[in-house]
Amino acid sequence: MIQKTNPIAVFDSGMGGISVLKEMTRLMPEEDFIYFGDSVNAPYGTKSLEEIRRLTIGHIRYFIEEKSAKAIAVACNTATSAAVRILREMYPDVPLVGVEPAIKPAVNACPNARILVMATPRTLAEEKFHNLEHIYEEQASIYPLPCPGLMEFVERGILSGDELNSFLRNLIEPYLEKNLTGIVLGCTHYPFVKKAIQQIAGPSIEIFDGSLGTARELLRRLHAADLEQEPSHKGSVTFLNSSEDPAKLALMEYLFQSVI
Ligand code: DGL
Repeated sequence: MIQKTNPIAVFDSGMGGISVLKEMTRLMPEEDFIYFGDSVNAPYGTKSLEEIRRLTIGHIRYFIEEKSAKAIAVACNTATSAAVRILREMYPDVPLVGVEPAIKPAVNACPNARILVMATPRTLAEEKFHNLEHIYEEQASIYPLPCPGLMEFVERGILSGDELNSFLRNLIEPYLEKNLTGIVLGCTHYPFVKKAIQQIAGPSIEIFDGSLGTARELLRRLHAADLEQEPSHKGSVTFLNSSEDPAKLALMEYLFQSVI
């Protein structure tokens, strides 16, 4: 039986979903969250669709069936495009949200928008992204940019410095001649390196991510299912990782506390 007092499970392939968790705790400080990062199997974004589905469904099943999660946030664009539809069919009564690249606000920000979408190769190869691209192709120019290797910087706790800057410059600089109006961070790891991206892109290019939209959607779904915690309850966050390395847990706490 799903109860209001049960926790909400937030899932990502590693550290990235903490950027979404942060917005959720700001919006819903009374809720108890369990955050699970599958750092052992990261990255997901270069894996096959079947492998990502198997891993994601296995973890979510555990949180719903063993940990009695009252709601699920798949805080990973890659896992969302691979598995959210199937998970909704498996658990129709559990409020479940995913993340997708925030193309809509980037398109609406200005007429004739020219938008770079940074995401994993898998996210950009999937139907979900193609459908999204299709919706906005008349109103905006959309440039998909697969970024294999970028999430690994965040997994290693590298959020600034020469190695990261030159990696990002190689990716982004070829697109600057397109006179970009916006960059969409279509992977939940990337907000942690937003400062470095903004420095390369320059101040006139606005950067978008889907964290706040996902947090708001979760709140709407909890409300619709009448599963919101009592407002007087003091919420909590519990971090779990598939890796036993204590450094991973320490990095999760650090990213949550201090960065964005
Ligand atoms: N954080 C994930 C996303 O939003 C993916 C990173 C990965 O495992 O490749 O797509």
